[in-house]
Amino acid sequence: MIQITPINQTFVAEIEGVDIRNITEDEFTQIYQTWLNFGVLRLRDQPLNEDELQAFSARFGPLEEIPMGRLPEAARKKIKNRYVTQLSNIVVDGKPIGGLGNAEAAWHSDMTYVENPPPASVLLSVEIPEQGGDTYFADQNAAYELLPDELRHRVRDLTIKHNAAHTSVGKLRAGFEAFEDPREAPGAVQPVVMTHEETGKKTLYLGRREWAYVPGLLLEESEMLLDELWSYAARDENVWRQQWQPDDLIIWDNRRVLHRRDDFDQNARRLMKRCQVLSRHAVSG
Ligand code: SIN
Repeated sequence: MIQITPINQTFVAEIEGVDIRNITEDEFTQIYQTWLNFGVLRLRDQPLNEDELQAFSARFGPLEEIPMGRLPEAARKKIKNRYVTQLSNIVVDGKPIGGLGNAEAAWHSDMTYVENPPPASVLLSVEIPEQGGDTYFADQNAAYELLPDELRHRVRDLTIKHNAAHTSVGKLRAGFEAFEDPREAPGAVQPVVMTHEETGKKTLYLGRREWAYVPGLLLEESEMLLDELWSYAARDENVWRQQWQPDDLIIWDNRRVLHRRDDFDQNARRLMKRCQVLSRHAVSG
């Protein structure tokens, strides 16, 4: 029997009583609905291999392929699970085995700099440092509710350009040129306030602060407005902290929450596996 327990008042639920390698369609529907209702789900003790992580994640919708850059075709063919990305600070033969290293990752939601960002991210912990590397989530429905009426009115028809050039740890991505002015940042334009396509709820949709720009405003006005909006985004009462154990599985809704990660000791090992869901589940209504 699936047990669903809220682990913070409003937006995080623990799912117990399931081995997600063997769930029925009915159980998946319950999980999916709970994910929509809450925004963040945690399932502990899910020792999945990459095939199993990929198969479970694909139930949420089609998955994003890992970036293969300039890898030759022969090397591409050898990659078994094209939809599982590693996040890690571990270095083997001088090469990092995953992205983001051990640095702090700033508040963001995943890939809002593309036209149609992934609704779901599914993250599995494999190796966890004794200290640091916690991941935090902030509820953006609640953040929207906090906005004063005057500010809500002011941003009603405004958009934000979301920077595609840097990662959440501030590194320039391969293939992008450095720039000095947020107006020059490449990336998709999204509404400041988004109506969630499945729940119909309004959410503050900020993406990430660094290099963001509000089109149509002077740069100083844009900076001031973004600072004002961000002051509501991650208030303590709307933030939940995940302290990882190995085999924790977290599924979050990028349309509903922001997340960030603490840094950790480079001499410790942290290995996570992630799938990104490209678009919503076909039968969810
Ligand atoms: C991220 O998506 O920012 C990484 C989260 C994590 O490594 O815990």
